Amino acid sequence: MGTLSYQQARRTYDRIGSLQDSQRFYEDRATALVLLHGDFGSAESVFEFGCGTGRFARRLLEKYLSDTAHYRGVDISPTMVQLAQDRLSSYATRADVILTEGEPPTGEPAGSCDRFVSNYVFDLLSHEDIRTVLREAHRMLRPGGLLCLAGLTSGTGFTSRIVASVIGWVQPKCPALVGGCRPVDLLPLLPESQWQLQHHLKVVAFGLPSEVVVAKRC
Ligand SMILES: C[S@@+](CC[C@H](N)C(=O)[O-])C[C@H]1O[C@@H](n2cnc3c(N)ncnc32)[C@H](O)[C@@H]1O
Repeated sequence: MGTLSYQQARRTYDRIGSLQDSQRFYEDRATALVLLHGDFGSAESVFEFGCGTGRFARRLLEKYLSDTAHYRGVDISPTMVQLAQDRLSSYATRADVILTEGEPPTGEPAGSCDRFVSNYVFDLLSHEDIRTVLREAHRMLRPGGLLCLAGLTSGTGFTSRIVASVIGWVQPKCPALVGGCRPVDLLPLLPESQWQLQHHLKVVAFGLPSEVVVAKRC
């Protein structure tokens, strides 16, 4: 068995719902780096692929984005979309959250954003979908815009290597047990002709390794 189908991903994340926020115990260290290096203060239009409960978006809107910046999030799970819409309701004039069928964002206009964010989503997509989403991110970003990613990755030390290996072993056998996620290394998926790497970091929290990538669209 490979990665979750779109239907399975929807069912899985509808079931997980607000419990997704409990993953902050290891995700926050990596997403803090995305916030640090994503230069969100100068952003005008942020797009997030797989926004979950809207927790990252809320932090962006509260503390990082200017009053005129716009946020748009998409997610495959109706439960997540509802949670995110509720969470962002006080920003309704400049934040919208849309339900999708899981497909890469081919319908979004070219040059429509200057930040393309995706946290802990690529690690549950097929390699083919990761490549397509990256192609779309490149199309959607204005020249000089930033791709900002965080996700589960291969380990960096003894413990995190073992933890990553166990997740990688469990995922094909029982993907729902690990939310469909497995460790992914993003750098080989970012052609130098399209992306200029600005920051690449690996951090470990509670044994779980995460990768952070901030890359400028060439
Ligand atoms: C592990 S959660 C991460 C949520 C959020 N980004 C965060 O960091 O808390 C993965 C999210 O991606 C969404 N998702 C999974 N596959 C998707 C797809 N093909 N298109 C859009 N969203 C997807 C899930 O519904 C879920 O909200």
